Amino acid sequence: QGLNALMVAAGKLYMGTAIETNNFNDAAYMAIANDRNEFGLYVPENSQKWEEIQPAVNTFSFAAPDSIDALAKKNGQMFRCHTLTWHSQLPTFVANGTWTKDTLSALITTHITNIVTHYAGSCYAWDVVNEALNDNGTFRSSVFFRTMGTDFLPLSFTVASKADPNAKLYYNDFNLETLPRKADAAVALVKLVQAAGAPIHGIGFQAHFRVGQTPNTTSLVALQNRFVALGLDTTFSELDIAHTSLPPNSTAIERQAQDYVGVVAACLAVQRCVGITLWQFSDKYSWIPTTFPGLGDACLWTANFTKKPAYSSVASFLAGK
Ligand code: G3I
Repeated sequence: QGLNALMVAAGKLYMGTAIETNNFNDAAYMAIANDRNEFGLYVPENSQKWEEIQPAVNTFSFAAPDSIDALAKKNGQMFRCHTLTWHSQLPTFVANGTWTKDTLSALITTHITNIVTHYAGSCYAWDVVNEALNDNGTFRSSVFFRTMGTDFLPLSFTVASKADPNAKLYYNDFNLETLPRKADAAVALVKLVQAAGAPIHGIGFQAHFRVGQTPNTTSLVALQNRFVALGLDTTFSELDIAHTSLPPNSTAIERQAQDYVGVVAACLAVQRCVGITLWQFSDKYSWIPTTFPGLGDACLWTANFTKKPAYSSVASFLAGK
């Protein structure tokens, strides 16, 4: 049995992966990606980001995410959607525009309404707001925060909910797992959205970890439970665990396996954890080496599509549940 089948047998909704249309012509890659035993959900790695999906005012480009959505439907997989209000990958007309609170609110409303409406009924979940916090727990100085204060948060969730009342609406961020002040700030952010009367259904922990520095299962369970207490679902939304020394030695290879199992165990231990998404499953397409030169080998499959010891460890762990 593959990872998705094992996750479902363990009571979860899915094991998913990030994917892009430029991966579609890689037959060896697609043989794994298309296998619903391995993956029960796709998320577009880049093509729903603002600069790709609305590169110019009122010009929407749905072709790439539509293809991923169609492939998911063909394979009987779920579709997770990423992302709406994010400071990064913004087209210059947004990032460098001259905005008032009213004009930026209107822009966000148009953006989210168009996109969420287009995918209504297809997206199991949306990462509505991504990475609004700095690592020290303050709000990131994005064009959204500078212009609107925190009002862009409830606005984004409210508009998304109107466009697709059935999608699960998530706040998604990184380093919540390792930085207590950032986790505190995310709890406060969720409460702020809720206090404004806006719907929020889930918290995405990106889970970009490093071998030997991955938080343990106990701490990941405690972290999730802070958000479960606020009524939210949880997920590990972009999991990868990078080696910090390449090529990894046998100790590091074993440690990567333990680290992956620890994260999967943390999802299994929390009833409201719906599933896990890998941020690509093969090293061939991992974002890590370009962004962090010297780090890598972070995925469960090698660049040649062989399964790593970490894959086997996760599969055996799940099979034993
Ligand atoms: O599409 C252009 C292409 O036309 C151009 O020729 C090429 C030259 O640089 O760039 C291409 O765009 C790149 C894009 O990925 C698509 O490949 C961008 O430069 C590159 O910055 C972008 O990186 C992505 C990054 O987000 C920034 O959006 C990574 O693939 C993607 O894995 C990464 O994903 C993020 C999540 O969305 C949010 N959480 C963190 C995670 C990792 O950074």
